[in-house]
Amino acid sequence: MAEFRHETDRLVLRDWREEDWEPFFEGTNTPAVMQWLGGLLDDERKSDVRARLERYQSDFGHTFWVVERKEDGAILGFCGLKRCTDENGPFGEMEAGWRLREDAWGKGYAKEAARAAIDIGFTKFGADPIIALTVEGNAASWGLMVRLGMERRRDLDFEDALWSHGYGPVIVHAITREQWDRQGA
Ligand SMILES: CC(C)(COP(=O)(O)OP(=O)(O)OC[C@H]1O[C@@H](n2cnc3c(N)ncnc32)[C@H](O)[C@@H]1OP(=O)(O)O)[C@@H](O)C(=O)NCCC(=O)NCCS
Repeated sequence: MAEFRHETDRLVLRDWREEDWEPFFEGTNTPAVMQWLGGLLDDERKSDVRARLERYQSDFGHTFWVVERKEDGAILGFCGLKRCTDENGPFGEMEAGWRLREDAWGKGYAKEAARAAIDIGFTKFGADPIIALTVEGNAASWGLMVRLGMERRRDLDFEDALWSHGYGPVIVHAITREQWDRQGA
């Protein structure tokens, strides 16, 4: 399959390459970035993250792509699309997700990447709706969902065996293609 690559004004979203993993973990495996994601990753959990993202790519044909800054080629993190794989949750729905290194926060990069990913989800992969998952405490993540025009779907919130133990239920936001098109995103 051809390499996935999508450019926005300041960023490139693309398939992972071997050399991306080291800078990705170096930038994002910090206490602040991992605060709501189970804390710092040891080598075993790093391998799990990599294996999961590679599995999404082979299972779904898309994943949380690597996010590279055009200006300097820096690996800022990931943003992209998977299918919800949690059987307690909205299983099978197209899910947008993001994780950027701390020095790339507050610059609108996450929103720029997420808008591109959601647009690709609707137009290239025919998704409808697109959901996003987080926990109540992760205000940066659900704040982004709100800025993207996503709607809080309390009816879809769920308990997750892994996450709900420490952080409370997984909370769901969603946007339909009609809502997305209407806001002219
Ligand atoms: C969630 C996460 C990706 C959000 O990143 P972010 O940088 O806060 O999100 P945005 O790209 O939307 O940037 C937002 C801020 O940048 C500001 N900004 C600065 N320059 C900007 C520009 N040129 N364009 C747009 N926004 C800009 C905006 O005003 C906004 O601040 P505000 O919310 O106070 O108004 C980030 O916090 C993260 O990686 N967290 C750790 C990993 C994680 O928890 N992931 C989610 C798991 S569910």
